[in-house]
Amino acid sequence: MNILLVGSGGREHALAWRLARSPTLDTLFAAPGNPGIAQHATIPDLDVDDHRAVVDFVRRQHIGLVVIGPEAPLVKGLADNIRAIGVPVFGPGREAARLEGSKGFTKDLCARVGIPTARYFRVTSRDGALACLDDFGADDHGACVIKADGLAAGKGVVVAATRAEAEAAIADLYRGGPVEAVIEERMEGPEASLFVLSDGTSIAAFGSAQDHKRVGEGDTGPNTGGMGAFSPAHELTPDLEKRALDEIVRPTIDALAASGTPYVGVLYAGLMLTADGPKLIEYNVRFGDPECQVLMARYDGDLAALLLAVAEGRLADAPAPAFRDEVALTVVMAATGYPGAPAMGGAIRGIDAAEATGATVFQAGTRLDGETLVAAGGRVLAVTACGTDIAAAQAAAYRAVDAIDFPTGFCRRDIGRRAT
Ligand code: AMP
Ligand code: GLY
Repeated sequence: MNILLVGSGGREHALAWRLARSPTLDTLFAAPGNPGIAQHATIPDLDVDDHRAVVDFVRRQHIGLVVIGPEAPLVKGLADNIRAIGVPVFGPGREAARLEGSKGFTKDLCARVGIPTARYFRVTSRDGALACLDDFGADDHGACVIKADGLAAGKGVVVAATRAEAEAAIADLYRGGPVEAVIEERMEGPEASLFVLSDGTSIAAFGSAQDHKRVGEGDTGPNTGGMGAFSPAHELTPDLEKRALDEIVRPTIDALAASGTPYVGVLYAGLMLTADGPKLIEYNVRFGDPECQVLMARYDGDLAALLLAVAEGRLADAPAPAFRDEVALTVVMAATGYPGAPAMGGAIRGIDAAEATGATVFQAGTRLDGETLVAAGGRVLAVTACGTDIAAAQAAAYRAVDAIDFPTGFCRRDIGRRAT
C-alpha cells in the first residue's frame, strides 16, 4: 500500500518513522515534509492547501491511505475531499473536526450529552463577556478562563486568577471587534492527555501523555505548542482512564455518529483530573506535538495496518494497540526567541552522535542549507528516549540532548520533573 502523510512537523516525523517500519507499506509520500521526514519518505512537489492537487496526486500515485497530521487541513475539509473519491483517510471530516475548530461547538455538545467539563458561557461581545464574570466565584475573586473560539495554535487561552486579569483578557480579546469566545469556570487538578482511535463507531485507547506547555523551567513564561512530554501519564490511572473513556470520549463519538458526522482518526482529549473525577478541558482532532513522538516511541505494532483499519471502519476487528512497557520522554530543542520571534538559520550538528546514544531525534522546524541542517521554525528538534522509568528516560533523553551542537537553540532541563 502507498501512503500519503500530510504535515511537516516533529509529529509527522514520528509518524513517518513508525509508518516506514510497517510491513504493509510500499511507498510513503509526505508533503510538505522536512529533512527528517525525507529520511523515511519521498517528498513530492505538492501544495497541500490545494485540495484538488492533493486529490489528483492520490489518484495518480495509487495512494491507499492518507494520514493527515495537523488540524488546519482537517478543519478545512481535506479529509472529506479525499474520501469523496473513495480513498480511506485517517483524520476526521470538516464537521467532526469542529471539536477542535470551535470551542463553543464542543462545549455545547458536552452540555447536550452530559459530558463532565467546566461550566461555561458562549459570548460574542465585550459587554456579554464582562456580564458573565459575576457568575464566577465571589470567593475566589473571579478566577475563570477566557478562550477565543477558533483555532489559535496554542494561544488564545487566558487562565485568569482574578477578576482584574479576566477583565484585561476580555479587553484584549475584543480590541479588534466582535469575536466568538467561551468563558468558563477554572478547574483544578493535574492535567493529562488521552489519545483514542475512532473509526466512527468503535474506539480504542491509544496511550496517554503529559505535556509541558510553558517555555520556562518550573512551568514559567508564556505558553508554547509544547516543550517536552512523557508517556504514559502516570496520574491517569487505569481507573481514571476508564472513566474518561466511558464518561467523556464514548459519548462524544456516539453523539457525532448520531449526527451523521462520524469521527474517524485520533481524538486527543485534554483532561483535568479534578477531585470530582476527569473533566474535559478541550479536544484536539489529531495527535499532539510532541506527544505523538513519545507515543510512537512506545507503540509496538504495524502502524500502517492499524491506521488503515481506523480509516476503513474495521477497528473492532484490529488487534488492540500495544505499547512497550517503558516510559518515553521527549525534550524539545527550540530556536532562541521561541515562542516569540525564533532565530532562524542556526546550524544544527550532532544528530548522529545523539542517536548513537540510543535516542531518536525527530525534526520539526529544520531545513537543509546546502549540506548543513539549520533551524527553520520555533520548535526545531524533539529528542526522544525510552527507559524503564521516568528518571531513566529523562537521563537518556538529556544524554542525547547534550550530544547535539545547536548554539542558537535552547531547551528546558526539567522535562518530566513533575513525575520524578
Ligand atoms: P488549551 O489551549 O485549550 O489547551 O488551554 C491551554 C491550557 O489552559 C490548558 O492546558 C490548561 O492548562 C489551561 N486551561 C484551559 N481551560 C482550563 C480550565 N477550564 N480550567 C483550568 N485551566 C484551564
Ligand atoms: N502539545 C500540545 C498540542 O499538540 O496541542
